[in-house]
Amino acid sequence: MGTILTIATSKGGAGKSTLAQCLSANLAQLGYAVTVIDADANATLSDWHANVYEGAPFRCLAECREVEVIDAAQAEAEAGDIVVIDTAGFANLTAASAISVADFILVPCMPDRSSTREAIRTARKIESLGKAARRALPYRVIGTQWRTGGLVESATLDALKAEGLPVMRYALPHLSAFRKASFTGNLPVSGRLGVEADRLIGELTEIGAIPAARVGSAA
Ligand SMILES: Nc1ncnc2c1ncn2[C@@H]1O[C@H](COP(=O)(O)OP(=O)(O)O)[C@@H](O)[C@H]1O
Ligand SMILES: [Mg+2]
Repeated sequence: MGTILTIATSKGGAGKSTLAQCLSANLAQLGYAVTVIDADANATLSDWHANVYEGAPFRCLAECREVEVIDAAQAEAEAGDIVVIDTAGFANLTAASAISVADFILVPCMPDRSSTREAIRTARKIESLGKAARRALPYRVIGTQWRTGGLVESATLDALKAEGLPVMRYALPHLSAFRKASFTGNLPVSGRLGVEADRLIGELTEIGAIPAARVGSAA
């Protein structure tokens, strides 16, 4: 049984799809059997995957219905190593389903006050869904479009920590290469973006959010 990793925050433009792209391309490159479920009706990710993406192959399906997304995630996890679910930038039932079915949830947060508020709101939602299901729904907030050491980044971290939210050490830096990748489809897995992805995957593995070894494919 593979791992289901959901990326969720009710803030639009927080870097959910970018994070999903970066993770999926790099995990596929490492040999994991990856499926991305695009649960956003905007279909940014599935469109990119179908029309632009050129890297190591991974499966991608669009499913934004709240019941079907659960079946799809479980079926894909049965067959592969990692299922990444990219959700829409507003609180909706499909995002709640994607959170409820997850083994781990990442909550992207840009360094600004409204992203911080939405990250906190999403964290509370995750906690209450876990309570309702009577199981732990582990999650971490992850900084995105981040400039390490910046004043607003420090204020964002202080606000998240004051609310008791767990935050990843690693934050996705603000890099125009990420923006460019959404056009070219060539998401570099070497060079600067590759180094960033290695650090991200390294921490996710360390905290048990993703398996250290491939389980579904021939290892
Ligand atoms: N780390 C980053 N550095 C630079 N630009 C980024 C970064 N993350 C996201 N972006 C850009 O910000 C915009 C919104 O990101 P996106 O991933 O689509 O957010 P969401 O899926 O949460 O709505 C996109 O144009 C994307 O290319
Ligand atoms: Mg998106």
